[in-house]
Amino acid sequence: GFHMDCLEQRKAGMEQPTTSEDDLYKQPFVIGVAGGAASGKTAVCDMIIQQLHDQRVVLVNQDSFYHNLTEEELTRVQDYNFDHPEAFDTEQLLSVMDKLKRGQAVNIPKYDFKGYKSGVSPARRVNPADVIILEGILIFHDPRVRALMNMKIFVDTDADVRLARRIRRDTAEKARDIATVLDQYSKFVKPAFDDFILPTKKYADIIIPRGGDNHVAIDLIVQHIRTKLGQHDLCKIYPNLYVIQSTFQM
Ligand code: ADP
Ligand code: C5P
Repeated sequence: GFHMDCLEQRKAGMEQPTTSEDDLYKQPFVIGVAGGAASGKTAVCDMIIQQLHDQRVVLVNQDSFYHNLTEEELTRVQDYNFDHPEAFDTEQLLSVMDKLKRGQAVNIPKYDFKGYKSGVSPARRVNPADVIILEGILIFHDPRVRALMNMKIFVDTDADVRLARRIRRDTAEKARDIATVLDQYSKFVKPAFDDFILPTKKYADIIIPRGGDNHVAIDLIVQHIRTKLGQHDLCKIYPNLYVIQSTFQM
């Protein structure tokens, strides 16, 4: 069962959720989805959410926690590295996740990519849920954020595919020209992928090649989540069940 997995992880010396074992059955199931920009993270999350339609699922995007730029940074936005771990307000992300895990509703800031502005109002009101999906390029970078996750997925899409999608997306949706997109890619996006994003792939439980096109991977993940949620429900009815399960296994 879910609790047994935690014991097995502990034996194997792997990273632990920060929650105590006694609390686990009360808490939402947290899934982290990382991967390069335009790898298909959002597509994978949408498919998981669609297939879990009968569950309460919320999606939290790391993009919502971009720091606001100073006036000076705004005048030279082409020199700003949006792919560096320090571009994000991780303390705020941790505070939001903490509230959601404790069953409280939260306001999640909106981000405007065109205006490079965070905290655009109105904020998104998010209610507590059974499953929380946390999505973003650097969601596995901070060990405190990793520790919140019960399942970690890395979307692994070739760099040329990511660049091609990025050009299409940023020219169409963010009103940027191709030269700007290519400059940003070679100056910041590619080096940050190599230095900060790719090294976090080792923390993933599951690596999905090709992103949203990989229906088999998505089906397996959804099946696994359903199994875990089923055990969650059993644990709610029989809070001591995990003791029996662990005794059998030891
Ligand atoms: P991420 O969340 O990792 O940035 P998205 O899921 O938003 O990635 O995808 C980035 C862009 O690529 C979007 O414009 C999306 O429509 C497109 N895209 C995503 N997955 C596919 C796919 N399997 N085939 C074609 N285009 C895709
Ligand atoms: O959704 P996705 O994971 O692609 O978002 C992350 C990307 O958004 C980063 O590669 C970053 O360069 C880009 N970004 C941007 N302009 C901003 C904020 C982020 O191009 N104002």
